[in-house]
Amino acid sequence: MTEKRIGDARRHDGMSDTGMSETGMSRYAPSARAAPIDGSPIRMSGPRKLHIKSYGCQMNAYDSQRMADLLVPEGFVETASPEDADLIILNTCHIREKAAEKVYSELGRIRKLRQAAGRDGRRVTVAVAGCVAQAEGEEIIRRAPVVDLVVGPQSYHRLPALLDRAARDGRAVDTEFPAEDKFELLAPPTREAIRRRGVASFVTVQEGCDKFCTFCVVPYTRGAEVSRPVERIVREVERLAAAGVREVTLIGQNVNAYHGEGADGARWTLGRLLRRSAEVPGIARLRYTTSHPRDIDASLVAAHRDVAAVMPFLHLPVQSGSDRMLAAMNRRHTVADYLAAVDRMRGARPDLALSSDFIVGFPGETEADFRATLRIVDQVGFCSAFSFKYSPRPGTPAASRADQIPEAVKTERLQRLQGAIEHHQTAFNAGCLGATFDVLLEKPGRHPGQLVGRSPYLQPVQVMAPPDLIGEIVAVTVSRIGPNSLHGSIAAAADHGRSAEPITTAAGA
Ligand code: 5AD
Ligand code: SF4
Repeated sequence: MTEKRIGDARRHDGMSDTGMSETGMSRYAPSARAAPIDGSPIRMSGPRKLHIKSYGCQMNAYDSQRMADLLVPEGFVETASPEDADLIILNTCHIREKAAEKVYSELGRIRKLRQAAGRDGRRVTVAVAGCVAQAEGEEIIRRAPVVDLVVGPQSYHRLPALLDRAARDGRAVDTEFPAEDKFELLAPPTREAIRRRGVASFVTVQEGCDKFCTFCVVPYTRGAEVSRPVERIVREVERLAAAGVREVTLIGQNVNAYHGEGADGARWTLGRLLRRSAEVPGIARLRYTTSHPRDIDASLVAAHRDVAAVMPFLHLPVQSGSDRMLAAMNRRHTVADYLAAVDRMRGARPDLALSSDFIVGFPGETEADFRATLRIVDQVGFCSAFSFKYSPRPGTPAASRADQIPEAVKTERLQRLQGAIEHHQTAFNAGCLGATFDVLLEKPGRHPGQLVGRSPYLQPVQVMAPPDLIGEIVAVTVSRIGPNSLHGSIAAAADHGRSAEPITTAAGA
């Protein structure tokens, strides 16, 4: 049994390629570039090609886009295929061992690819970014000498300078937590890039975590909690909306701990930021992730009650249904606290659907603890959830505990947990049959003539609709429940403040 997310395909624990293209001139073009790292010639004509492969959470997906935005003015164009890339960036995830190991197997494939390119007289630069870069630093180059450049999540705004350094010195490593604000130094995406990326977009509002759950590497790889100032976020949302984006997901490792400074000098809560974002013309839908149960405050509850654009969906990780485990995990909340937070949110928005994250086999977890987790699944009735086997992460407190759970026990518990989650997800989806709700049409669907969009609850919905409806919010009546998506037909137009121009996605409408 593998770990999986049952439900929402947008939160990918696999990988996604950014796969877009841009044009521009390069200071890495042959005329401007000194001797390449190993003396082999570099691409002699046209702009250099960039391939970014992103692993893990939405923040990595967002960071990958920002890296691309940063490198386009440097003369790179994006390519979806690593085979013809001059620069390959792996934007990595360190959250579980499996995620980190994927990077090394990918680097093995890239080594062969680089050798093949070398035979054609082409030099490929390989960069490792993200949380594995932060956690392992130089060690990556020792283990995988194909890597030229290692850059942590807090220093990727320095990529152009690091590429220069790698070209000059043979390699470059930057895993600092610099004082400067990287967001201020990053290039904004072009209008074309925004349009190609589609009508739903992420915006990082908060990064890092001060919670120090005993299983988690995030406070070490992403650092202390930092909130971006309100006005900069609003400007970013406005830019996205002006290019046709209709839905924005505000992201942060601990997004509801948001406390960025407003123009009024006050610290704003996430609830207040959601209200302000909803005022941006063209923005019809708002989401946010990932939240911590302790940081659900009155302003967030009120935003769900009062702001129509805030979708009735909440991803609220609980990790375990056992108070003993929650204490050992240093989660700083009990099962009762969690259920109380759910009640408050449902009180404000009775149609709220919930999703969660679970860890099975945390050190010391007994069968009774695990059964308590099954119990909370039944109590809350999640519409979807991620579930994972505990993976010891070097340097975290739980990793050194003596009472680790045998792999076979973790596998068996994961299977039972996923069965329980699936039961509720199936029931939730079945309850949608015959219902009519608003769907934001995002891109071409699986079959000709189809578009795929998202329900308010993040379910993919397949609808027969012409491509010019991409970017529209339409009322869809659900007629069939498929294994991975809902199917339905358009009931009536139900748009809310659509922007003037239609927008097409990378897949080409
Ligand atoms: N082992 C297993 N799962 C983990 N997560 C975080 N750290 C670990 C770990 N060491 C899970 C948690 C978290 C999600 C993003 O990943 O459930 O909410
Ligand atoms: Fe990790 Fe806990 Fe912070 Fe979430 S709240 S990022 S699980 S330390």
